[in-house]
Amino acid sequence: MDEYLKANRQLWDAWTQIHVKSSFYDVDGFKAGRSTLDSVVRSALGDVRGKSLLHLQCHFGMDTLSWARLGARVTGADFSEQAINAARELSAQVGLDANFVCANIYDLPGVLSGEFDIVFTSYGVLYWLPDLQKWAQVAAHFLKPGGTFFIADGHPFAMVFENEGEVTDLQPRYPYFHADEPMRWETHGSYAEPLADVHNVEYGWQHSMSDVLKSLLAAGLQIQELREYPFARWQMFPFMERDAEGWWRLPERFVQIPLIFSLTAKKQVPTSSPTLLRNS
Ligand SMILES: C[S@@+](CC[C@H](N)C(=O)[O-])C[C@H]1O[C@@H](n2cnc3c(N)ncnc32)[C@H](O)[C@@H]1O
Repeated sequence: MDEYLKANRQLWDAWTQIHVKSSFYDVDGFKAGRSTLDSVVRSALGDVRGKSLLHLQCHFGMDTLSWARLGARVTGADFSEQAINAARELSAQVGLDANFVCANIYDLPGVLSGEFDIVFTSYGVLYWLPDLQKWAQVAAHFLKPGGTFFIADGHPFAMVFENEGEVTDLQPRYPYFHADEPMRWETHGSYAEPLADVHNVEYGWQHSMSDVLKSLLAAGLQIQELREYPFARWQMFPFMERDAEGWWRLPERFVQIPLIFSLTAKKQVPTSSPTLLRNS
């Protein structure tokens, strides 16, 4: 396993143990019936009853199980053993049927079989992946012909701005374009529990919007819809404000920029080969 993958997996194993107890993830609320799926995600996928759904980078499964509550037949995959163990435990506790698989996303086709009506992934996923071409091939591999791929994630443009420390304004600090060499951070705590006593090294990669589109197109998916939103699920910058629906936004005095995006794509149904005309 390469150094970057190993460090990130250690980080996610450590973070999972904190996240399951955090108010950010509010597992008790989830057990009491709260859905973790927001309106961006819900409206894009519509009625999932009876559909098979693969959730890539599922963390400890709350979104996966929220889809199960809506009637989907779900499989969640993640490379953190702690996350997959917690997801299995949670599904047993809430009595929802779900399959959880532990694997590096790039190795998933060797570990999991089958094709799905929906391949879903969301919020905080692309940053952890060094290679989007291979990622898109994995997503396409698991889709049935005619199946739907959906992603919602932080917008790559928003990743350009400083979000650490006492920052009070949008300050461009990081490159917009991809580099093969990852960014390296020494992290203390996690986004869900900033004061937790865990110290890790993380590696992440920026991917531009054209990288996302190119990789999906190259994997044979047809892009149906790309949307950009001036709000986010989480507090990306310290100066953001929460609206009545719980979305985090930049204050009105700011120039508004895209903070998250969502994309829907379809795997083509193969056209039948033309019938050969033969002379009788
Ligand atoms: C920010 S979380 C996704 C969050 C999810 N939307 C939620 O809030 O529950 C990112 C997930 O990606 C997983 N991950 C990171 N790199 C991965 C890889 N190479 N293969 C599989 N999973 C990976 C991590 O273990 C983590 O669970």
